[in-house]
Amino acid sequence: MGVDGRRLNVVVGVSGGIAAYKACHLVRAFTERGHSVHVVPTPSALNFVGAATFEALSGNPVSTTVFDAVDEVRHVRIGQEADLVVVAPATADLMSRAAHGRADDLLTATLLVATCPVVFAPAMHTEMWNHPATRDNVATLRRHGAIVLDPAHGRLTGVDTGPGRLPEPEQIAKLALLAAEKPGAFTRDLEGKRVVVTAGGTREAIDPVRFIGNHSSGRQGFALADVAAQRGADVTLIAGSVDALGTPPGVTLRSITSARDLHDAVVEEAPGADVVIMAAAVADFRPGTESDSKLKKGASDDALSRIELVENPDILADAVRRRADGELDAATVIVGFAAETGDATATPLEHAKTKLARKGCDLLMCNDVSGGATFGAEDNVGWILDADGTIDDVPRGSKHAVAANILDAVARRVAAARG
Ligand code: CTP
Repeated sequence: MGVDGRRLNVVVGVSGGIAAYKACHLVRAFTERGHSVHVVPTPSALNFVGAATFEALSGNPVSTTVFDAVDEVRHVRIGQEADLVVVAPATADLMSRAAHGRADDLLTATLLVATCPVVFAPAMHTEMWNHPATRDNVATLRRHGAIVLDPAHGRLTGVDTGPGRLPEPEQIAKLALLAAEKPGAFTRDLEGKRVVVTAGGTREAIDPVRFIGNHSSGRQGFALADVAAQRGADVTLIAGSVDALGTPPGVTLRSITSARDLHDAVVEEAPGADVVIMAAAVADFRPGTESDSKLKKGASDDALSRIELVENPDILADAVRRRADGELDAATVIVGFAAETGDATATPLEHAKTKLARKGCDLLMCNDVSGGATFGAEDNVGWILDADGTIDDVPRGSKHAVAANILDAVARRVAAARG
């Protein structure tokens, strides 16, 4: 189900490319979330995966032509009843036909009828993706209101590598469900902007086997990187420890361990960036010394019972300071995060206001974690505080939808900063 518990009618269109086998996993990703799926392959897709496989996985009949079940007017009905259409893989040929309004098979006919969000997940060789004809077709489809995902970079069929690889099915499913939840999430308002996102928790070594860490899953930061890339940004994601999250398509991943590694990475990556988003859960303290050998319990000088902690650099406040000193571009938009609970002194929102002023960043996403949720959860809720005093409610939604809300505020700031 979606975050709002709605069971969606999802049409999975499949066109004829080697990556068609990944559509099987995509169908599973939707059915396992409780959505109903109709698979509509092109005739050539069936050269790669048989109709029986799609029927078994979706539990619904599969046809490729407008001449099956004519009495049900299937070519119109499937598109009309859809809440979401996802074409994965979308070949160059399929996108060309869709961009020109052709209706020469059941899938293109369905695309002409559908008024719900339509998402294309392209997969093709880099030369085909870069060809001016494909660029034009992508632009036309986007102008017509469709969402065309940027493909992943990586190994393609044969020996070549480059942009053109179909993202992993789970990644396509998350982005497609975001399209259903918040269709405006894919505005290309970060085209050509350089965005640095930090995510996940840091680990502060005690000895070769132990560390001080935290519960951050990294999901909110990964979602931010994912959505920013799909809005056209050139994204570097600096990630601490995360629980097996795949690198979002089109994103450059840099892995770090400790707060000091993270600080070094941000110092390197932030110059030239249009946006720096500090979603990482940074450990405020680390052991003053890291033992070279494993500390033994019960040893006469029981070092484990008296670990002395020293304070880590405040990376966010440091970025703000370096911007003021001219080391970062004055127009760089800096975004902080705060997970707050209310207490005797203040509400979560009041704590967040104080933190925004203390850190000096432009925007602060405040999660209300009073109920204990958020870490590792699928959804999130809170407020976006702008240093200009405005506060936007962020309604409860998937971490991808929350990311899109944050990026709406970021894009407004970027546009204002760049005049
Ligand atoms: N942050 C940072 N460096 C640190 C600690 C935090 O850059 N050493 C960033 C986080 O990535 C986040 C923001 O600062 O964007 C707020 O983090 P939080 O842990 O809430 O802030 P603290 O300053 O540690 O405040 P608190 O006293 O509430 O723990």
